[in-house]
Amino acid sequence: MLRTNTCGELTISNETQEVTLCGWVQKSRDLGGMTFVDLRDRYGITQLAFNLEVDKPLCEKARTLGREFVVKATGFVKERESKNKNIPTGEIEIIVTAVEVLNESKTPPFTIEDDTDGGEELRMKYRYLDLRRNPLKKSLALRHKLGFEVRKYMNDQEFFEIETPYLIKSTPEGARDFVVPSRMNQGEFYALPQSPQTFKQLLMVAGYDRYFQLVKCFRDEDLRADRQPEFTQIDCEMCFVEQEDILNTFEGLMKYLFKSLKNIELADFPRMDYAIAIKEYGSDKPDIRFGMKFHELNDLVQNKGFNVFDQAELVVGICAEGAANYSRKQLDALTDFVRKPQIGANGLVYVKCNEDGTFKSSVDKFYSQEDLQEWSNEFGAKAGDLILVLAGNTNKTRSALNELRLEMGTRLELRNPNEFSPLWVVDFPLLEWDENSERFHAMHHPFTSPKNEDYHLIKTDPGKVRANAYDMVVNGVELGGGSIRIHDKELQEKMFDLLGFTEEEANSQFGFLMNAFEYGAPPHGGIAFGLDRIAALFGGSDSIRDYIAFPKNNSGRDMMIDSPSPISSEQLDELQIELQTKHV
Ligand code: AMO
Repeated sequence: MLRTNTCGELTISNETQEVTLCGWVQKSRDLGGMTFVDLRDRYGITQLAFNLEVDKPLCEKARTLGREFVVKATGFVKERESKNKNIPTGEIEIIVTAVEVLNESKTPPFTIEDDTDGGEELRMKYRYLDLRRNPLKKSLALRHKLGFEVRKYMNDQEFFEIETPYLIKSTPEGARDFVVPSRMNQGEFYALPQSPQTFKQLLMVAGYDRYFQLVKCFRDEDLRADRQPEFTQIDCEMCFVEQEDILNTFEGLMKYLFKSLKNIELADFPRMDYAIAIKEYGSDKPDIRFGMKFHELNDLVQNKGFNVFDQAELVVGICAEGAANYSRKQLDALTDFVRKPQIGANGLVYVKCNEDGTFKSSVDKFYSQEDLQEWSNEFGAKAGDLILVLAGNTNKTRSALNELRLEMGTRLELRNPNEFSPLWVVDFPLLEWDENSERFHAMHHPFTSPKNEDYHLIKTDPGKVRANAYDMVVNGVELGGGSIRIHDKELQEKMFDLLGFTEEEANSQFGFLMNAFEYGAPPHGGIAFGLDRIAALFGGSDSIRDYIAFPKNNSGRDMMIDSPSPISSEQLDELQIELQTKHV
């Protein structure tokens, strides 16, 4: 080893020891007689001290050490005169007797401090420098521990970690596939897995009754703070189980992770039907750290002459406690918020419940004080509360009010990142109608089984059929989702038929799975969690990017290696791919 110790471990108990440290120069200070250099490595920072009077050439050499130079320094541990209580090594310094530059560095394009002056793009380009900063080191340490604890729990529960291939055939998880051309099979393509769904089911047929894998998944979809084109799942599957068994096993995993990583004991997770989640929160992943549930007002507010409400399919509102003192400006800001194209509401109606028992609303022209009292009763509103109401098409209005509820939750500081409210959302619909293609899509994926009690509706009212499908949601983030699977060939065939696959299409894409179902497929089910999302939640961040060593930006680009990029004409020729340049 080039070093005897790390830059994070020496304390007063090591005084007088001779040590050798290696690391990067964080900064140096020249105080005339003394030069101090902060040396950083993964473990911390240690101060190196050079005395001009004791060793002039050495001190002069120290003065030439630039930021981020890689240095090896030998010396003796000594108690510091002015101590830094903020770092573990702050009571000591190294009186250096020899220093060697292992490598020089250009001046970095941004400061490598906890608070940096570098913009997002620049830091992405020099990710390896950004990764030297403490916040990112902490994120990656958390991610490492998370993966480690997952493996520990799963191993203790007798799960096998089994790897599945990355060069596969399309798995329909709802996004587009990334495809890889095959040189040896010209004109043919692999798809990168959106998840190992079909493989884990095949492992169940093979009898590996408890499987898990920390696995990369690839989805070509629009990116957001909680979505990356490649991300990591904790993918799990079990045989001979019912939904209840899966929920219990993985509630256990999450409780274990909260305890071991955050020292938080979680109570049993509440469960909520999908239909209730949509009706009361306008979302299948409600943040239940706070109330502000939806109240539907059609019966109360329609036929009073207010056209907007009269013509609406749904009139629905929330009550924001203590917000009646919102100013005109604040209310205008809320109206602008709901009118943003991505929220999509036409306008916002408000009712202030004044301290004197009267009401002030934006629709006073149409509604009397008695009417507004009735609204207030519906919400159980108190003096000082603010009622906010949206109206229009049911689905759009619910989703807009969901955004407004979350916005109000944030504004009223009801979304404390150190409080965790987990939830199982259960009884998802099996199918969802897609307006564009005018047909049903599988809401989870085509391998999800319908609930027995709803099965009779499959021909007559397929949209009403519920699935044995569930999501784990924490603080409004979907951490994981899964289902009990179909394990019967005929039912699987029916499902593909319902989803508009011809028999040939179903066979060519999923014949391998349906064939396997003919060789003793056990009842099985599972779940997959987003590892990056769990890490971000535990770390208190909205963005999973901070928990991925080398993430992509929002256009799916890796700014550092500059990818995607064109490939050479030789490579294209080998693959027999001809690029068409479109001339507009
Ligand atoms: P699903 O598609 O719900 O289920 O994915 C499971 C979990 O993976 C995470 N996730 C993502 N994380 C980051 N970036 C993305 N682009 C992204 N997409 C999904 C989420 C999500 O809850 N095969 C099924 C699971 C099963 O049925 O067992 C599946 O993949 O946290």
